[in-house]
Parts: sequence; structure tokens; C-alpha cells
Amino acid sequence: MKIGKLEIKDRLILAPMAEITDKPFRQMARKHNAALTFTQMISARGVVRSEFRTMRKIAFSKSELPIGVQILGCEPDCIGESVKEISKYKPTVIDLNAGCPVKNVTKLGFGAALLDKPQKLGKIVSAMKKNSNGIPVSVKMRLGNRKNNALETAKIIEGEGADFITLHPKLGTQSSEDKPDWTQIAELKSKLRIPVIGNGFVFTAEDAIKMREETNCDAVMVSRGAIGNPFIFSRFEQLVKNGNAPLPTVDEIYANTLEHVEKIKIEYGRNLSGLHNAKKHIIWYFKYLNGINWLIPNVLNARSCDELAEVLEKHFEKLKNDEYPQTDVEEIKRKFKDRILFWLLDKKD
Ligand SMILES: Cc1cc2nc3c(=O)[nH]c(=O)nc-3n(C[C@H](O)[C@H](O)[C@H](O)COP(=O)(O)O)c2cc1C
Repeated sequence: MKIGKLEIKDRLILAPMAEITDKPFRQMARKHNAALTFTQMISARGVVRSEFRTMRKIAFSKSELPIGVQILGCEPDCIGESVKEISKYKPTVIDLNAGCPVKNVTKLGFGAALLDKPQKLGKIVSAMKKNSNGIPVSVKMRLGNRKNNALETAKIIEGEGADFITLHPKLGTQSSEDKPDWTQIAELKSKLRIPVIGNGFVFTAEDAIKMREETNCDAVMVSRGAIGNPFIFSRFEQLVKNGNAPLPTVDEIYANTLEHVEKIKIEYGRNLSGLHNAKKHIIWYFKYLNGINWLIPNVLNARSCDELAEVLEKHFEKLKNDEYPQTDVEEIKRKFKDRILFWLLDKKD
């Protein structure tokens, strides 16, 4: 598929994820050859008011291109104005969030709540198109908020000139554990003229191949599957080309973790904000390897970036020397899907 001048073939797209797809994360995905990355969702009102915290989330460097900026809001005028402002920075695409199911978001009429009002959503897309200065616009949507009205909504979005749609085939009322219905991606793809990107429950490069085959989608967007796993992007390309792709070695995981942490320090500094950010990513990189139960408390208790580096080095050595007992990976996979990070702190288990 093509997004403006960008050709996306046999490569994966990184999804927008709040508090996760910041610059260091996107740079790691880019290093592993993601076709396109996204900022996290950004308040349209914050852009219009030029709020510092919002504008900082948009900041991207030229070397990060191609990149998409995702906006959140519900008023066509405000969204149109924000798109005009964002277009000055020339991202590859400007995307509208019509999928976030979080209560604090939907109660304002944002995210998945937009799917209850397809006509209004159409007006938003029209305003985006008018103000984007030729930059492609897209919508990332679910099947509906409370009921499935995906086809009706998508047709309106297409009619208003959106360049593509990303579908996460679940309702707004469904939780992160509920499996998305991939057949709905195939359904939408068969009924639209514009490209359809599939999203949902792609945790490995093999899953992405399966989604592509089963749905005929134009591209696959990865979210949780890329957390602590930028290798998913390069593995997918290798799998398509060669039919096989080795899993990353412990050395590769360690080297990429160190690189990611260095980028975090550059972005946030070696202060508390850098430290906390680094902690979660370190745990994510090693979550499916032996010794994770040793790593978690030691990482969480580290009080400086230097202490963190020592913990990491020790963990790497222990892994290399095969000092840990076997971890129940399936159990960790289940918990990670359920709660991403907070399973780490779940005392019940
Ligand atoms: C921590 C987290 C933050 C997210 N933030 C956003 C966001 O800012 N914008 C958005 O459109 N979707 C967001 N999502 C949804 C994902 O992009 C994606 O649609 C969803 O996780 C399903 O894909 P997956 O099963 O591959 O994770 C977020 C998901 C997670 C787990």
C-alpha cells in the first residue's frame, strides 16, 4: 500500500501507544525497520492552545520519518485547526483516534465514543482533509463503541476522503483480554476502496503473517507485540523473505536494551523520569526469559541509572551462565496481555 509517497510492502507498522511510543521507543522500532511509527495520542485542544506538554509529545526529528501523529478530540473545528498546525511539521500521516475505550476519554466524546456518531466522525475527517495541506489523513477505529457499525462508519470515513483506515476489530466495551475478530478486517477490506490496516493480537512476526494471510489486509500494525520486542519488525521482514527468522539471542536482547536505555537518558535525562521510564522497558525486554522474577524487584528497587546498569549487567551474566531456574513463560504471556505492566505489582498472584 502507499501512504502519500511512502510505499509499505512486507513491513510492519508500529501502533500509537500512550506513554510508550515516545521518541526512544520509535527510534528502536525504526532501527529494526518498522515501515511507519506513530506518536501516542495527542490532544487536539492542547495543540490548538500550543500547550507545552502536548507539543513535546509531537516533537520528532527528521531522522524519525516516516512518522504519523495521532490526535484525540471530537470537535471538527478544533480538530481541523490542530491538523493545520501539525501539518507545518510535515509528518507522513495525521491519524484520528476513534478507538480508545478508556472511560476518561469516552466520557468527553473522544476515542471510541466517536463511533456512536458516524456523521459527526465524517465531519471531523472532512475537516482534517481540508486542513492537512496535502498530508494523508487516516482513522484508527474499532468495530463500534457498543454495537458493530464498522462498515457504515468506514464508508463515511472513506467518502470524506480518508487515505486509509486502521481497524482494531473489537467493540469499545471489550477489554484487552477479549480476542479481536480478524474476520471483520477481511470484511472491511473486501468492501472498501481505500487501504485497510489490521491491528490486534499480533504478538509475534508469525502472528502478523497469519493476519495478513487470513484477512488480506494491506498492512499490519503492531502494538503490545512491539513492547520490549523491536525485533518483531526485522523478524517479520526476514520471515517474508526467507520463510524463517531466528529469535533474538540473549546478547542481542541485552545490547538492544542498553541502546534503548541510552536513548531514554538522552530524551529524559538521568533523573527520576528517565529512571522510571528505563525500568519498565528493561523489564519488558527480558519478560519472557528465565530469571524475570529476580530481575523485577531488583530493577524496581534501583535508585539511580548506575544502579540500574549494575542490575542489568548482573542479570545478563546470570542468564549467560544459565544460573536461573526455568520460567513459566505461558503464565507471564497471559499476565502481560492482561495488564502490560501492572502485573508486576500484582501481589495476589
Ligand atoms: C499501553 C497502551 C496504550 C495505548 N495507547 C493508544 C493510543 O494512544 N492511541 C491509539 O489509537 N491506541 C492506543 N492503544 C491501542 C493500541 O494501539 C492497539 O490498538 C491495541 O493495543 C490492540 O493491539 P494489540 O492487541 O496488538 O495490542 C494503546 C494500547 C496500549 C496497550
